[in-house]
Parts: sequence; C-alpha cells; structure tokens
Amino acid sequence: EMLEKGGYDHFMLKEIYEQPRSIRDCMRGRIYPNEGKVQLGGIKDYADKLKNIDRIIIVACGTSWHAGLVGEYLIEEYARIPVEVEYASEFRYRNPIISEKDIVIAISQSGETADTMAAIELAKERGATIFGICNVAGSSIPRISDAGVYTHAGPEIGVASTKAFTAQVTVLTLMAFFMAQQRGTIKESALVSLLTELDSIPDLVDKCLKADNHIIEIATALKDSSNCLFLGRGSGFPVALEGALKLKEISYIHAEGYPAAEMKHGPIALIDAEMPVIVIATRNSSYEKVISNIQEVKARKGIVIAIVTEGDKEVRKMADYVIEIPDANEAFLPLLATIPLQLLSYHIAVMRGCNVDQPRNLAKSVTVE
Ligand code: G6P
Repeated sequence: EMLEKGGYDHFMLKEIYEQPRSIRDCMRGRIYPNEGKVQLGGIKDYADKLKNIDRIIIVACGTSWHAGLVGEYLIEEYARIPVEVEYASEFRYRNPIISEKDIVIAISQSGETADTMAAIELAKERGATIFGICNVAGSSIPRISDAGVYTHAGPEIGVASTKAFTAQVTVLTLMAFFMAQQRGTIKESALVSLLTELDSIPDLVDKCLKADNHIIEIATALKDSSNCLFLGRGSGFPVALEGALKLKEISYIHAEGYPAAEMKHGPIALIDAEMPVIVIATRNSSYEKVISNIQEVKARKGIVIAIVTEGDKEVRKMADYVIEIPDANEAFLPLLATIPLQLLSYHIAVMRGCNVDQPRNLAKSVTVE
C-alpha cells in the first residue's frame, strides 16, 4: 500500500499533489489556446442544440454538487444560459418541470451514485438531453447519458474528493467556453486569452501547493477548534462550501460554508475569539466587499484566515493568517483557492489523529438511496 501511495502518508495527500497533472490531463487535446478553440468530442454532436436551449439543469450530490455551483457561475457568465443546480436527491422527488428543450448535466466522480442516477432517469423520461461529467470510465452514469465528458483525473482512493473536484471544475470551465463559442457570446480574442491562462493553471496549482509548510503552521493553530466558518462571494462561495465540507468530513470539526454577505443574517451570532473564519479574499470583483466582511469578523474578535492574491497588503493588515495564491482571472479562482483549503483540512485531520482516507460513516460512492 505504501507503494500505491507513492511515498505520501495518505492517498488524500497524494491526490492533492497530483492535481497539476490531473488538471493538465483533463485539458489535453481539448483546448487550443492559439486558435481560441475548445474541442469537446463527447458533446460536439449537440453543438446546434446548445445554440437554442433556454436553460441547463445540473444535478449532483456532495462535492460534485459544489462543482455544479461553480459550473453555474461559469456557464451563466460566459455562455449566458440560465443554470439551475439541484441536489439529485431533491430533484428526483419533486415533480420537476423539464422539457425536450432542456439539457441536464449530471456530475459524478464514481458514476454510480443512486440519487444522481435516479435524477437522470426522471429527466430522460421527460425528454431532456443528458450530459454526464464522470471520472470512472464505463461506469453507469456515462452509460445512461446521451453524451458527456470524462474528467480523466485517474482513480481517486481517498473518500474525501480532491482531484476529482478540480477535474470536474476544469470540465465545466471547458464546457462553459465551448457553449460560449457555439452561441457567439464570447469574442475569439477573449477566448484566446482565457485559454492561454487556463493552459497555465496547472503551473499555478503547483505554486499553490508550495504553501504547504505555512499551512501546517496554520493547521497547528486551528486543530483544537470545535467550529469553523468558511466565507466566499461569487465563485468563491462554492469554494467556501467545499472547504467546509472537506474539513467536517475528515476532521469532524463542525464547519459551515456561507456566502460572505449572508453572514450578517445568522452566523455572525456565533463569532467570538474562539471562532476561526476562513475567507476567500482574492483580488477580484468582490474584493472590497469581502474586506468589509473581514472587518465585521474582526470587530467580534474572530480568527481570520484569508486566502489572498499574491502580494496583497490590505487584507494582511486585518487577518490573523494569510495564504497567498497566484493572481488569475476570476474564472479560475475556484481551481486555485480550493488547493490551500484541501491542505488545511488534511493537516488538521492528521493532527487530530483522524483516518483521513476513510473517515467514519462515509463511503466513496453511495449506491443506495
Ligand atoms: C459520497 C462521497 C463524496 C462525493 C459524493 C458524490 O458522499 O464521499 O466524496 O462527492 O458521494 O459522489 P459522486 O461519485 O456522485 O461524485
């Protein structure tokens, strides 16, 4: 088993460190930065349909559902198609409104999740076209879908999803650009620069991993906490949700992800000197707003751990700890900001003596309802 872990203490850590490569594998043969083109062989037959659809519904569970929320942000931003993101388990029991004009995107690492499969069957009965985004080739979901795109992240052994999540986000980014290209909602020159930057993301992910030693210090300070709040805005919100899920799954610390502005409608009541608040505070369109959210936390003596853009000075003045990530277009923020949160959860869980690869009560794939 040590051999399979490639010298790492746990599969989860190995899989976190594989991400520069898994994201690269996921993009291989699919992006042509110089020409400003995205090619997705798995859904190319639906290029015409994509021009005329009125909406997309994304169904998924767990971490895959968080990837769906990032997808919503990207598809709406670039392809200008309204997107709804649904928990598969809720969607399937709700008599949802679906027609032949709809595309349902089902996201699943394993391709075997029972609720996601049932949601697909229901959508199919009502005439929708199904795109699958799966990691395991030949699994059930790709077989019952009309079309799809594999994530190619390689086998994921750790129960808590890491590299499969970033690969799902990568595929959704490619899909958003592909749809934008088909629908003419993006200029070729804009696509050239976005794809050029996307092509460099694996190197930037590698840079994010370099913060590991600094993250170990922060983990040491946080390891005995009993609660933790994660805040983000825009595409930083699903990153916050995923950060909180990772921490609770493997360290058993109660954690919640919240849209930063919603903090004042509830979670702010919990903030005191014992409460760590992890904030996605990179320099993007919501930067100033996030800064005022940080001030609200500090005014109540909360412990602020901020994920910031390299070279940031303003947040550093207020936060107790900062973790820098490279500067990048807002579209790629989720791919970068997720990395330090995975490492933070991992180290906290190890320090608490938890079984990070096989957390209690959780399964890698939930094939029963
Ligand atoms: C389980 C796993 C999670 C995963 C979820 C959905 O809860 O522990 O890591 O996100 O199922 O699984 P799927 O294979 O459909 O992505």
